[in-house]
This record gives sequence, structure tokens and C-alpha cells, in this order.
Amino acid sequence: MSNYHIKQFEEYFQVYRKSVRNPEQFWEEIAEEHFVWKKRWSNVLSYDFKNAEFKWFENAKLNITENCIDRHLHTRGDKTAILFEPNNPEETAEHITYNQLHERVCKFANVLKDQGIKKGDVVCIYLPMIPELAIAVLACARIGAIHSVIFAGFSSSAIVSRINDCNAKMVITSDGSYRGSKTIDLKGIVDEALNDAPCIKSVLVVNRINSDVQMKEGRDVWLQPLLDDAYGDCTAEVMDAEDPLFILYTSGSTGKPKGMVHSIAGYMVYSAYTFKNVFQYRDNDVYWCTADIGWITGHSYIVYGPLANGATSVMFEGVPSYPDYGRFWDIVEKHKITQFYTAPTAIRALAKQGAEFVDKYDLSSLKVLGSVGEPINEEAWHWYDENVGKKKSPIVDTWWQTETGGIMITPIPFSTPTKPTYATLPFIGVQPALMDENGQVIKGNQVEGRLCIKFPWPSMARTIWGNHQRYKDTYFSAYENMYFTGDGALRDEVGYYRITGRVDDVIIVSGHNLGTAPIEDAINEHPAVSESAIVGFPHDVKGNALYGYVTLKDVGESRHHGNLRNEINQLITDRIGPIAKLDKIQFTEGLPKTRSGKIMRRILRKIATNEFDQLGDTSTLLNPEVVQRIIDNVK
Ligand code: WT7
Repeated sequence: MSNYHIKQFEEYFQVYRKSVRNPEQFWEEIAEEHFVWKKRWSNVLSYDFKNAEFKWFENAKLNITENCIDRHLHTRGDKTAILFEPNNPEETAEHITYNQLHERVCKFANVLKDQGIKKGDVVCIYLPMIPELAIAVLACARIGAIHSVIFAGFSSSAIVSRINDCNAKMVITSDGSYRGSKTIDLKGIVDEALNDAPCIKSVLVVNRINSDVQMKEGRDVWLQPLLDDAYGDCTAEVMDAEDPLFILYTSGSTGKPKGMVHSIAGYMVYSAYTFKNVFQYRDNDVYWCTADIGWITGHSYIVYGPLANGATSVMFEGVPSYPDYGRFWDIVEKHKITQFYTAPTAIRALAKQGAEFVDKYDLSSLKVLGSVGEPINEEAWHWYDENVGKKKSPIVDTWWQTETGGIMITPIPFSTPTKPTYATLPFIGVQPALMDENGQVIKGNQVEGRLCIKFPWPSMARTIWGNHQRYKDTYFSAYENMYFTGDGALRDEVGYYRITGRVDDVIIVSGHNLGTAPIEDAINEHPAVSESAIVGFPHDVKGNALYGYVTLKDVGESRHHGNLRNEINQLITDRIGPIAKLDKIQFTEGLPKTRSGKIMRRILRKIATNEFDQLGDTSTLLNPEVVQRIIDNVK
């Protein structure tokens, strides 16, 4: 029996047991049989939860791009690796075969080398969803440079902090991007960022929208002429299994964003293995994940996981609403998509538009539907099941995180019976635990607690760039010998998991992970603001929206509050990006605080959801009177 491809429910249990009883033997077999290595490992796994040190396939040598590209050339060189669907439906889709991808990645890699990029250097990539994004990522991996992709919706200050944190040498960007009927001046945003990022020595610019951008002499270069002159082959750098592959920033509940570091071998093995099974990918399938490569979903399930399996992976440049709300389904019909992977927020937005946008298209090619990024509510689940899957395509509700590198809790389609709103069972090799507030493991079923993982898995992040202490504190200090996820979960009567949401100060808005602290910091920069607190409240499309309680310095502030609201949201847009804008802003005289001065968000959350009778004991607050005043203001 091959453990690589699980096709039945009984098989899942068998393989799962094996993977848990002897993880090293299990992963060794998968690594050996399904990947190419330049040198074998000396040890499959070593780990130390106390110091948060994890090593998989120690001392092995490899290059991930040989696994994602070169090894497929003999068998499927002319197969489409990346299918690019442009923003404008009139523009022709581009099929990039494995042969072509090989050449383009090699050329790009040679350009990087010519520009002075070496193994271990960090390269920031700030690009829209165009083929050059995937190619740039792979070109970095080809030469052993560490890529740090920054989602092209982030503002210039967000770029500054990310570039400086990892001391990047180069930025790869484009003149601009298309987004529906709009264009965005990406180069201008980068230029602004680079005023405060002296570590950047050069900027490679892709021409996407033919706009007239400023090119700074000695720093900025157009990419295409360099590619035209570059040699079409590039020997893959021999990398160590544990060398960093990439940095990807994710919000924390406090402080600046965390640069999660993923290393090569474990990440490759796990992203590939999960891709194969969670999407039941077969050779002629056309798989589409609608995420952006700026997020971990795109790294693992647009680029690395699919390509390691020789799959055809669709990259879509545009938005679900352009030219109308039928665009996703138009693409499904046009390219005969077999697996479709999206976020609940997109499903809810499309469901709102009515079934006529879906019904127009032939979606019969679909076999598997996926959901990721936030809990999927019952209504959205059924809408997806009925209108998109026509009740014949299983929905895989996949729970995981930037930190986990790959899918952790998920059904295996056609094997695991699905249940609306449940991510169901741990994937092979994943050992979840629910913990109570006293640090004890909660045993049995029909229980709820904090979700932890009690054994290492290959694609776990290895550290936070430049701050291993923070990595230890954030993930390994809450519970001994466990990875703490930050999520709450329940386990039902048959052992299925349902993720109930974050238990820390991270709020998931439209599937985007937002920390409250950086947003509050942005608001507090406004000269009229003395303090602020952000909480989440339910929103029918975004899942959660942001509610800001803002205290002004001068209570008698005469300026129009409407303007102030706009100014605050503008500040947030500038500092973080439009995704972090507040839906509601309430000006308050004060914020409820504990005696030690900590803002009691729990109370503010209840006020935001109008649960005024659920506030709990407020008598121990430093300023209990504030609570009533805030409520009176809402009512
Ligand atoms: C947080 C991680 C996983 C890639 C995209 C997000 C939430 C993610 C689910 C799901 C319920 C989910 C969790 C998690 N989340 N998937 N299927 N059901 N919640 O990655 O930005 O690192 O966010 O997203 O709260 O901790 P991320």
C-alpha cells in the first residue's frame, strides 16, 4: 500500500495510526519515495519543545525547485504548470508549461545572481498575481535566496517594517497592478517605502500596466531586458534541509508583525503530501486556489504543493466581482476547474449576489471544493455545497495557519464524511490536543478547549526571524511540550474538530489575520486621539468586522466627528492597508480598565455585539462608571 495517496476512510485511519505510532519511519518513507534529494538525511527528526528547536531530515541536501520543476520535465514537460488568468477576461489566459517554467525560473535566477543576490540573502517580493510572482519565488529558491513576499495590498509603512526587519537587499515589484476596473501604483508605494529602507540596494521592476513610473538611477531596473539577455539554464544551488526557504509575516496580538521562517525540506514534504490528499489531485486535473501568493495559502497551495506534484495550478490576477459577480464561475467553466479552493468571506460575498450568477455557468468539472482562512458558517457552507458543488462535490474545510505551513485539520474528500462548519479530523501525522485553562489536557469527546498540537510535524515554522525568544514565548510557553495555536476548538461526539475562533487579540477579518495592537498604534498616532481599543464583531460578509473605541484628548473636541472617523481610517490605510479599516468607530470618554491598567476587551466585545446583560462582573474595574456611559452612547 502506498501511503502517499489515501483513497478511503479506513485507509485514512490505518495511515494515521502509522504516522502517529512511528512518525519518523512514516515521514522517512514519504520523503524517500516521493522526492528527489542530493544527499540523504542523517536523522529524520530531532526536537526540543523547551527551546523550540525542530529539525526534519537533518543534513539532507536538496533544492526544492528541482522537486517542483526539473524532475517533471521528462514526464510532463509540455503539461501546463501555471495557468494564468488575467484580470481582464478579454486578455488571453497564459499556459506556462513545465518546460517553459523551467526556462523562466532559470533566467530569473540568473538575473538575481547578476544583480548580486547570493545564497542566504533576503529578497522582498511585492507583486500582483501575475506569473512573475510565482517565478520570482521559485527563482529565489533556485539560488538559495530567502524570499519574503509582501501582499501587494499592504501600504508603504507595512512594507518598510517588513523590509527592515529582515534586512532585505532587493525588492521585486511591478509598475502597477490591475484590480477590477482600477489600477494601483505599486511602484509609487514601493518608492515611498524605500525612503526609509536603506538596506535595499536594488529594485527589479516588472512591466505590467505600461505606466510611466520613475526609475531611480543606480537602484531601479526594468526586469524584461535583463531576462531577454539571461541564460536559460541555472544549476540549482545545493541547499541544506533546514536552510530557510522563506519568511512570511503574520500579525501578532502585540508588537510588530512576526516574520515566520519556514525551512526547505519539511515544508516541501508536507505541503506536497497535504496537497495530493486534501485535494485528491489526479494527473489531468486543473486546480485553482483563489488566494494571493502574498499569504501562506498561496505559498503552499498555489506554488509549492501543486508544483511538487506536477499539477496544473491556476493563478488569477483579478477579483471575484469583475466584470461581474459571475467571474469565478466563468473561470471554472472556461478552464474546467476540478478543485476550487477559496475563503468563506468570498463565498458569503458571492452568495449575497444571488444564484443567477452561478447558474449561468457549467460547473460540472468540479470535484472538490475547499474553504480556508476562517470558520465557515452553516449558511455559507450550504450555499457552497448546493450552488457550486451541486451537492456532489465534498467541501474540505481546512484549518491551518501561516505558522503551520500546511493544512492540519481537514476532511479527506471522498473518504471523511463532511459535517458543515467542522474541519473534522487531523491530517496524517497531526496530533491535536484541547487544553483547559489550568494547562491540563481535556480528554474524551464533546469537549471544548484551546487547540494545541502535541507533536512536531514537518512544515512547522522554525523560528521568528531575528527573534527566537518571541517564537518560544508565543507558541511554546503557554503549555509544556505543545505548540499553542491561538485558536479555540471543540471536539464533537465522534471526535470531529470545529474551530471556534481566536482566543487571543487577533481578529480574522475577511480571512485576514489582523492584530489589534498595530491598528491601535496607527489610530493613536492621530493627534486628537489619546487611546483606542479594537474588538471584532460579527459581519455577514467579512465574518468579523472591526469596532474601534476611541478616546479623544480633548473631550470637548469641536471638530466634526465624521471627519475624524475618515482621518482615523485613512491613518489605518496608510499604516497597514485598507483591509484593516474600522467599520464602526465609537468615541468614548474612557476605556474600561483593570486595576493594573489593562484594557478589558472582553467587555468591549460584549458591547459591540449588544450583549449588554453579558458583561460579567465590572465592579473590579478601575473605572466601572465608564462602561455604562459607553453603553448609553450606543443605545
Ligand atoms: C488563522 C490563521 C491557513 C491559511 C490562511 C490563514 C483561522 C484558518 C480556518 C478554518 C476556522 C480558520 C484560525 C487560524 N483559520 N483556517 N478552516 N476554520 N478558522 O492563515 O493568516 O495565519 O491565519 O486563521 O483562526 O489561527 P493565517
